[in-house]
Amino acid sequence: MSNERAANITVDGKSVEFPVLRGAVGPDVIDIRSLYAKTGMFTFDPGFLSTAACRSAITFVDGKAGTLLYRGYPIEQLAYQCDYLEVCYLILKGELPNATQKQAWIKEISDHTMVHEQLSRLFTGFRRDAHPMAVLVGVVGALSAFYHDAMDFSDQAHRDQSADRLLAKIPSIVAMAYKYSVGLPFVRARNDLDYAANFLHMMFATPCEEYVPNPVLARALDRILIVHADHEQGASTSTVRLAGSSGANPFACIASGMACLWGPAHGGASEAVLNMLEEIRDASRIGKYLARAKDKNDSFRLEGFGHRVYKSFDPRGKIMRETCHEVLNELGLHDDPLFKLALDLERIALEDDFFVSKGLYPNVDFYSGIVKRALGIPNEMFTAIFAMARTVGWIAHWNEMIGEADQKIGRPRQLFVGSPRRDVVPRDKR
Ligand code: SDX
Repeated sequence: MSNERAANITVDGKSVEFPVLRGAVGPDVIDIRSLYAKTGMFTFDPGFLSTAACRSAITFVDGKAGTLLYRGYPIEQLAYQCDYLEVCYLILKGELPNATQKQAWIKEISDHTMVHEQLSRLFTGFRRDAHPMAVLVGVVGALSAFYHDAMDFSDQAHRDQSADRLLAKIPSIVAMAYKYSVGLPFVRARNDLDYAANFLHMMFATPCEEYVPNPVLARALDRILIVHADHEQGASTSTVRLAGSSGANPFACIASGMACLWGPAHGGASEAVLNMLEEIRDASRIGKYLARAKDKNDSFRLEGFGHRVYKSFDPRGKIMRETCHEVLNELGLHDDPLFKLALDLERIALEDDFFVSKGLYPNVDFYSGIVKRALGIPNEMFTAIFAMARTVGWIAHWNEMIGEADQKIGRPRQLFVGSPRRDVVPRDKR
């Protein structure tokens, strides 16, 4: 980063100068690390609307241009020219693998697809109707109770080992959460299948008959994983960074990211989109729901619309819409009523000035739920699929943060609005 300019803040007639740092692309930042020492004041930015919490080289998002780059490559190119494991390699190591590196990478991940038998037994502690994200947070967090052979996280080799284990096991754990919820036996990973096909196999194969993953559906799932793999400092990634900044076990940190992702304002949106479309049911009722979304006194929000960063369009939403077409056509579901309703809802909303003026466009979650449902994945599993895809992003950000020479524990301050100091009144006088 270069420091070409300075910013001045004047308070009570006293002016203090701060360096302006320039990154590779995107907004410059005012380096205010010395603000408290120089002024005795904090900045105030709940929700981090104007705060860069770190430096990163992994993902760049331009909300105005609708651009998403993983290590400089546009998401549109990665989604159609690469597969998910290649994108994982890129996100973690900074470059796309060549053929030799890819083969070695596939072997490295395949060596860890088995799940410890003790971990499998954890599932029996959950109710069958537990939300899959509750199971996922519990089981992924429990991974921190295993693998004591690679616990020195200052050692890159140990960090790489943890990354391999997480990437390799998360599909099995997600599929196990589904199988457990429907009372079916767990299905072991098959290393002869690619990442997405193996997941479909573990989700839908049974011991009673052979299951051959549909290549079109596997490719669609692979693309869903690619577009959800990372997204710079979203709430869940920031959670992983903050948890990891104390030196906590990476499996436990990833579990904290999963907990954050579960929220309906974040990764829980794709499940909420399907529930919303099922509630709207018919295009004639769209107007009523759009009116509710515009009503300040109504907490209803148009699920799958809007984004903290994208104020033009979410490039992932376009890729998901195209993938929706592909999957529904492959399955002969092009007249799927929910997909037609989603297309109508998008069209009508984008003709409405309320949504256009506020920069509210379909985000990644608006169509992805319809694709997942068409793949046979139940609504309550949607966020778990998102978590499976985002695990690589969380690991990459954790790794980047831990590897920084000036890494510190994250410890924000506050604007205190409570009671000033006061003394306890003796009990007999209260
Ligand atoms: C993800 O951070 C990431 O990168 C997240 C993510 C990732 O890959 O990690 O991209 C994944 O979380 C996608 C977002 C999924 N969530 C949803 O689809 C839920 C519905 N969307 C909203 O809850 C909302 O848009 C958020 C949470 C996504 C963004 O919230 P913000 O930043 O508070 O929204 P904003 O400031 O841009 O809103 C501007 C205005 C506000 O009204 P005013 O206060 O200006 O009057 O638009 C309103 C909002 O109330 N608004 C909506 C709306 N989203 C925002 N009104 C109706 N329906 C909506 N969906």
